[in-house]
Amino acid sequence: MDTETKDSRGQWSGSLGFVLAAIGSAVGLGNVWRFPYITGEYGGGAFVVVYIGCVLLVGIPVLLAELLIGKKTQRNAVGAFRSLRPRYPWAFTGWLGVVSGFVILSYYGVVGGWVLHYVYLSLINAFSASTPDNIAGLFGALGSNPLLQIFWHGVFMVFAVTFVAGGISRGIELGNKIMMPALFSLLSLLVAYALQTPGTGAAVEFLFRPRWEQLSPAAVLEALGQALFSMSLGMAAMVTYGSYLGKNSNMVRSAFTIAVGDTVVALLAGLVVFPIAFTFSLQPSAGPSLIFQTLPIAFSQLAAGYFVALAFFTLLSFAALTSAMSLLEVVAAYFIDERHWSRKKASWLLGGVIFVLGLPSDVSHDFLGFMDGIATNYLLPIGALLIALFVGWALRHHERQEAFDGMAKPTLAYYGWSFLIRFVSPVALLGIFLHQLRLI
Ligand code: TRP
Repeated sequence: MDTETKDSRGQWSGSLGFVLAAIGSAVGLGNVWRFPYITGEYGGGAFVVVYIGCVLLVGIPVLLAELLIGKKTQRNAVGAFRSLRPRYPWAFTGWLGVVSGFVILSYYGVVGGWVLHYVYLSLINAFSASTPDNIAGLFGALGSNPLLQIFWHGVFMVFAVTFVAGGISRGIELGNKIMMPALFSLLSLLVAYALQTPGTGAAVEFLFRPRWEQLSPAAVLEALGQALFSMSLGMAAMVTYGSYLGKNSNMVRSAFTIAVGDTVVALLAGLVVFPIAFTFSLQPSAGPSLIFQTLPIAFSQLAAGYFVALAFFTLLSFAALTSAMSLLEVVAAYFIDERHWSRKKASWLLGGVIFVLGLPSDVSHDFLGFMDGIATNYLLPIGALLIALFVGWALRHHERQEAFDGMAKPTLAYYGWSFLIRFVSPVALLGIFLHQLRLI
């Protein structure tokens, strides 16, 4: 039975495939859309420093914890916790992850649809000959047209489902091996381009010069929430991806590579968005509409703006799609492993259900924001807290030490990580949660 399920579960073809897929999961709308606008709203440099601190002190430890659970058990979110501690209600953590998958992908798919619409708008050169008001109006026109959103939302979901239905190495990994290198190339070109614009000085200063007086406690908690979302943590997505790892893989190295990759892409996205925004004296604090309204105005006035816009939205669609695949995989893996559904059935049926759950977000952006709030303010912090407590306190020393298998002298690193996952991460995550409940 054991080997049977293992064989039919599939595996990454190697550690490159895994790391690319995990970076593909991490790098998404969170990096290119959310990170710049949140950084803009919270005032720049100081927020960036705090964000990096959150990645180091909480993000990487929790990421390693998730990979450990997955690789050790070779099971989906629910089965993984259950197989390690059957007698305690830890499987709840896995359930929460599956529920989060439904919730997050429902609205993530809607925003993914917007991105595809913007790829189309770029293709037909919709920004070039237009006035700033008209360009900004394109976003409003999309928002007030549910059918148009539903159409692109559906197209986006069909893409995501197709890759997940293809399996681990021949679907998800293949998609990442094509889209992630393309994303890195487009991003490098765009950074090189954006850094030639006159807004560069102001942008670099905005992103990298901390003005501590602008930092609020709310910004710190926001940074932590953003770190979880951006690194795909708190809903066992990395448990699920880790469960397709072979025995000979170095999880510590992978965790660092994933974290660095994710953070570098977020910063590079900032180095594309802000120089262009500042060049045209556009507001960095425009909020969620920053890249859909503000940037296209700039694209319309840039030299080679047609190609810049097309490259930007194509890159963003790849980022969104590879992340959506990981969200769907958490849900699908549960039904495949535990309910013995075929991968095809699980992918298409669950993808369909999640699409339907997302329809309200096509109709109302308030509802979309509400779902995002539930996920990032409650589901992910609670999930990450439970994962940290599970690995830090429910697992024993020798079980935790497996995270460092394959490393020559892991002792010091192990104790450092142990301390972070047992004390620092839970306290920080509890902080987000208490703050949401207005208790601190
Ligand atoms: N990390 C992705 C982003 O930055 C979104 C994402 C994918 C995600 N899988 C996840 C977020 C799992 C939380 C949990 O856009």
